[in-house]
Order: sequence, then C-alpha cells, then structure tokens
Amino acid sequence: MNPANPTAPTIVACYSVYDDFFPALGFTDLTDGMYEGDAGRPYEAAQARQAEVLPDRAGVAAGARLLDIGCGYGRILRAAGARGAAACGITVSPEQVRRGVRAGLNVRLADYRHLGPEWDGRFDAVIANGSLEHFV
Ligand SMILES: C[S@@+](CC[C@H](N)C(=O)[O-])C[C@H]1O[C@@H](n2cnc3c(N)ncnc32)[C@H](O)[C@@H]1O
Repeated sequence: MNPANPTAPTIVACYSVYDDFFPALGFTDLTDGMYEGDAGRPYEAAQARQAEVLPDRAGVAAGARLLDIGCGYGRILRAAGARGAAACGITVSPEQVRRGVRAGLNVRLADYRHLGPEWDGRFDAVIANGSLEHFV
C-alpha cells in the first residue's frame, strides 16, 4: 500500500463488512456470475460459468501465469489453478488475503495502482473481474 495515496477507506471497510457474513451465506464470490441470457440459470452455475469463460478469454492454459486484480474469494484463481496455471491474486481486503492463503491460494494484499516495477513482466494474462468500478 502507498501511504501517500491510500485505497479509499470506505472500499476496504466495505469489504471487511461483506467478508464477515457473505461467505457464511454461501456467496462464493462478489460478482453476479455469467447468465448469457438465461435468467433461469442458478447462481452457482452462473458463477462457475464465469470462472471458465474469463480464463478462456484471457488465454489461460496450463503453465500460464495469471494476475487476478481484485481476486475476492479466489474463484478465478481456483479455476485457473485447476487448468495448471500459476495464478496470483491481489486484493485490498486483509480478510480476503487471510481466507485465500488459508485455502492454499497465492493472494497478496496490494493496491493495483501501487504495484512496483518488480511486478513487471511476471504475467501472461490479467483478469480484473468486478473490480474496475473501484479504480477511481
Ligand atoms: C466486487 S469484488 C470482485 C471479486 C472477484 N473478482 C469476483 O469475481 O467476484 C472487487 C474486488 O476488488 C478488490 N479491489 C478494490 N480496489 C482494489 C485495488 N485498488 N487494488 C486491488 N484490488 C482492489 C476488492 O478487494 C475485491 O476483492
């Protein structure tokens, strides 16, 4: 994090509140999934579909190195890992980092706006799903 230009405290606080109860309610992540015009598709199926389509579009295959900006609870990281990719997620939520690390995922506490040059050239693909709206 960069103390001169911190992540808006309301964003971090918002996720701290969500992270207290969303997982307990069965939310596997923090976006609405992918319905592709099928309003009857169950939430879980929409989430699973999104976790396949986004890595497909980003060309994530075995051996690929993926950065997931705003990785939430790690759904995309898991899907990429299942393909044999090396997936790293960043988030501004300390609770999401704890949860992800506990689950064996590579999740770091970082604001994408402050990633240093040591992150350059380390990834073949980048996904930012449902996080763009926070980057203002
Ligand atoms: C709506 S959630 C989306 C989570 C997940 N990608 C999904 O598909 O459900 C937004 C995510 O963006 C993260 N985020 C917000 N601002 C960020 C920033 N500046 N740098 C990195 N992550 C950020 C939040 O911590 C949260 O994990």
